[in-house]
Amino acid sequence: MSTKSQILEILHGRDAEYISGQELASTLGLSRNSIWKAIGKLQDEGFEIESRAGVGYRLVQKGDVLSASCIRDAVNIPCKVHILDSVDSTNNYAKTLGDVTIPNIIIANEQTKGRGRMGRSFYSPPSKGLYMTIAFCPDFSLDKSMLVTAVSALAVCRAFQEVTGLGPKIKWVNDVYLHGRKVCGILTEAETNFETGNISRIIVGIGVNCFEQNFPEDIAGSATYIKDAPKDFNRMALAASIVNNFFDMLNNFDKKKLLREYRSRSMILGQQILLYGTSYSDMPEHGGKGVRARAIDIDENGGLIVEYMEGRRSRQMETITSGEVTIRKDI
Ligand code: BTN
Repeated sequence: MSTKSQILEILHGRDAEYISGQELASTLGLSRNSIWKAIGKLQDEGFEIESRAGVGYRLVQKGDVLSASCIRDAVNIPCKVHILDSVDSTNNYAKTLGDVTIPNIIIANEQTKGRGRMGRSFYSPPSKGLYMTIAFCPDFSLDKSMLVTAVSALAVCRAFQEVTGLGPKIKWVNDVYLHGRKVCGILTEAETNFETGNISRIIVGIGVNCFEQNFPEDIAGSATYIKDAPKDFNRMALAASIVNNFFDMLNNFDKKKLLREYRSRSMILGQQILLYGTSYSDMPEHGGKGVRARAIDIDENGGLIVEYMEGRRSRQMETITSGEVTIRKDI
């Protein structure tokens, strides 16, 4: 953990009490000068830290600090929490970790190369979102692994409901939407053990746009943040609730119940959609414009059952397991 994160964590744990520079320095094994510099940087980043000569420092507004120990306390399972000021991608970081026999939760205040699905980037400016990865060793069958993506989207929806009172929807496969715009994206990755053929590590990266921000032009019309969040909303509460719901669903796995909930949260079932990124939709005959289809249902592995509405396969049904969907607004 960085010096800044460690200082924040200590100040956060002390409520509004002052703590001297000397105490911080000896707790962290650093010089008072390093503490002073780190506090200055935190103040520059907008943290309201009051410093009183001869007394010490205190966090005035607890606000939206990311603290490893607070998250650990709020999470119902044993886990290791990594808080990073800045990282290229929390999913990349998760891949560098050794043992993840107990789940590792990585949260960064900023990502410099946040990754999205289908090779896209994920906009991750400092202090504006929750950029989190859950890395763990699955002890379950492939059948369950295939539903991890659906479980992660549901965990985000449940957490939103708990922490903000809002009821988001899911756009297959696992984008989470509020008021018709994307508020959260999820990138699920897996590492396989070549010898056994089993999945050795699952990496679930979750990016939530939490606070008001200037989205880049290419997503400005389709992205949103949590506009109607309660005043005391903070990223830690959302993170802990996502982790709790995620492992609760996996540990008490009830496929029928999960799929029922997933279907009820889906914003595309019954809708006319454009399908991209599948071998059929990407054929030259479709001119890169996607294929019109109707979203019929979610199958028992979380695949999307579609009925094509044009092209050679018009009126045929197919189950899609990867790809991208947009809802047609022009019909
Ligand atoms: C998407 O919208 O296509 C998926 C976005 C996933 C973003 C999250 S943020 C935390 C984790 N680290 C990454 O680099 N990506 C995921």
